Amino acid sequence: MTISVAEPGSPGAPAAVELSHLGKTFAAGAVTALSDVSLSVAAGEFVSLIGPSGCGKSTLLRIVADLETPSSGTVTVHGKPARQARIDQDYGIAFQQAGLLDWRTVAANVELPLELHKVPKAQRKARSAELLAMAGLGEFADRYPAELSGGMQQRVAIARALARKPSLLLMDEPFGALDEMTRERMQDELLRIAEETGAAVVFVTHSIPEAVYLSDRVVVLSARPGRISDIVATGGWDRRAGNDVRASAPFFAAVAAVRAALRGEDDDTVVAGRDLR
Ligand SMILES: Nc1ncnc2c1ncn2[C@@H]1O[C@H](COP(=O)(O)OP(=O)(O)OP(=O)(O)O)[C@@H](O)[C@H]1O
Ligand SMILES: [Mg+2]
Repeated sequence: MTISVAEPGSPGAPAAVELSHLGKTFAAGAVTALSDVSLSVAAGEFVSLIGPSGCGKSTLLRIVADLETPSSGTVTVHGKPARQARIDQDYGIAFQQAGLLDWRTVAANVELPLELHKVPKAQRKARSAELLAMAGLGEFADRYPAELSGGMQQRVAIARALARKPSLLLMDEPFGALDEMTRERMQDELLRIAEETGAAVVFVTHSIPEAVYLSDRVVVLSARPGRISDIVATGGWDRRAGNDVRASAPFFAAVAAVRAALRGEDDDTVVAGRDLR
């Protein structure tokens, strides 16, 4: 199945991510994790992946990040092969595990991608201070990861992923370990940053409301082998309205549409559309 771009980015800009007939098998062909996945994520678009545990969501993100090689099909990131995009560090990553460096302070972890890009020290400090304040961790800049809770570590990892204002963010259940209020604040910050920087986001979550709230499109994957079973267009509301959106009728309609798609119900309401209002 090939899915066309919902909202083209700037004219002529290559898609942020282009997957064509992607397949992945593990254990010498014994486990088929992904089968014939084709998807185009436009520059600046926010796409969520949702589907049952083990359906290949993390595998898909890892292939885009060139941490795993596909068994079949092709991947390009901003028009480049995935390997080149990794070398050029064209994206920021926040995965299920925070993956912080234990021997570096919180601020030094956030500054790492900037250091690698030889950003001057004063700028690095300013940027990490700004990001840590956003993540509610301003007072923890000089602490070490082991002194933080799991959710706090995850927020550091998200701040690190945002440090270079990447044009693509790959996020795998980044808010799973956060309490509900922090989660909603981080969702709004992520939307604000994505909008400000024009970053495309590919976001894996198990939360239907989270996917609906954040995304332009929600891609529903079927149980293993993961295939795209549905795509629900969402959004179409003013995201800055925050909690008003979460309590609105179009929001609930989109949540119901994703739920139906996950259940495999062939319902006319499945495509919620951008004209929900
Ligand atoms: N390195 C690996 N070696 C062998 N099998 C693997 C490997 N990585 C993933 N798999 C298998 O591929 C399938 C998809 O795994 P993946 O982690 O992508 O699922 P997921 O959709 O992210 O699940 P969850 O929602 O639980 O995080 C699973 O059956 C898993 O066992
Ligand atoms: Mg996963």
